[in-house]
Amino acid sequence: MELTRALVIGASGFFGRRALAVLGDRGIGTFHGRPFPGGLAFDALTMRIGDVIDQAGVPFSHAIIPYGAIDMEGCARDPAGTSAVNVVAMVRVIHDLFDRGIMPVFCSTDYIFDGSKALWRETDPAFPKMAYGAQKLAVEAWLGTRTEPWLVTRFSKVVSGGRDEAGQLGQWVNDIIAGKPQSCADDQYYSPGFVEDLAGAVIRLTETGATGIYHVAGPERFSRLGLLSLLAGRIEAVKPGLLPPIRAAKLAEMPFLEKRPLDTSLSITKLQDRIGWRFTTMDTLCERIARTHFG
Ligand SMILES: NC(=O)c1ccc[n+]([C@@H]2O[C@H](COP(=O)([O-])OP(=O)(O)OC[C@H]3O[C@@H](n4cnc5c(N)ncnc54)[C@H](OP(=O)(O)O)[C@@H]3O)[C@@H](O)[C@H]2O)c1
Repeated sequence: MELTRALVIGASGFFGRRALAVLGDRGIGTFHGRPFPGGLAFDALTMRIGDVIDQAGVPFSHAIIPYGAIDMEGCARDPAGTSAVNVVAMVRVIHDLFDRGIMPVFCSTDYIFDGSKALWRETDPAFPKMAYGAQKLAVEAWLGTRTEPWLVTRFSKVVSGGRDEAGQLGQWVNDIIAGKPQSCADDQYYSPGFVEDLAGAVIRLTETGATGIYHVAGPERFSRLGLLSLLAGRIEAVKPGLLPPIRAAKLAEMPFLEKRPLDTSLSITKLQDRIGWRFTTMDTLCERIARTHFG
């Protein structure tokens, strides 16, 4: 299906904002609690997406769907409440999109995997360890029963250097500026991707008419401590002597409500065979962040 115009459901969020920017005048976005100019209000729990589409007053070929209650501790604490948003309402939204002939692009996660190996492929069996991953997998499984075209894009860690948003690197920058000592897992691995690259790759993938499941993540596998060390090295080079103590820890030491998967790094061979995306390396991004915030 040709991408003519897309509704970004959750365009006020970390990823959705970038997806909307990539779409430019081919995109319209919704927000929930954080309004933005041109955005349409949408609460998946209390509203129908069809009413938002009617309000937009233009046809859409696709809907990019990053919306959700994605705080993992929140999902563990309140599986029923978050499932109402992440599964029940999500299925209703996608159902309504199918009824209108709009193709959904559902943003999923590496946390559908149990973390027992490296570089998961799209065909690997998924056994989530956490409520958040189980909710995402429930939507994927429901999509698998449908005959309409759909696209699932699974992300691993999404990063940016923005200090005022949820991205990992920007949060570490805040901690380093505050002189806060860091305990960081050296046994947790993922495939961090720069949020702007991920948004560009998802839209490009959609433009190619891709359907089914694709891993959309950075091409490098990092431990959490490895990524922090890369950033720390770049900051040290720009502003020596500023770094707080950084201690290697184990993921199991962290006081999370649920046991987290150790290795959720993703293979992106399928993605690259299709679109050959040129990703920003984590070193380039860290060097840029160090110059911006410490130069
Ligand atoms: N961030 C990561 O590292 C990461 C990793 C893997 C997968 N993912 C997946 O990628 C997607 C995007 O993540 P993100 O970091 O961009 O999330 P985010 O910043 O938390 O954005 C979530 C979006 O959902 C909207 N929203 C929340 N509750 C809603 C409701 N009840 N009805 C309608 N909209 C609602 C929010 O609106 P307001 O902000 O206006 O309230 C916001 O636009 C998610 O599906 C997430 O599971 C993210």
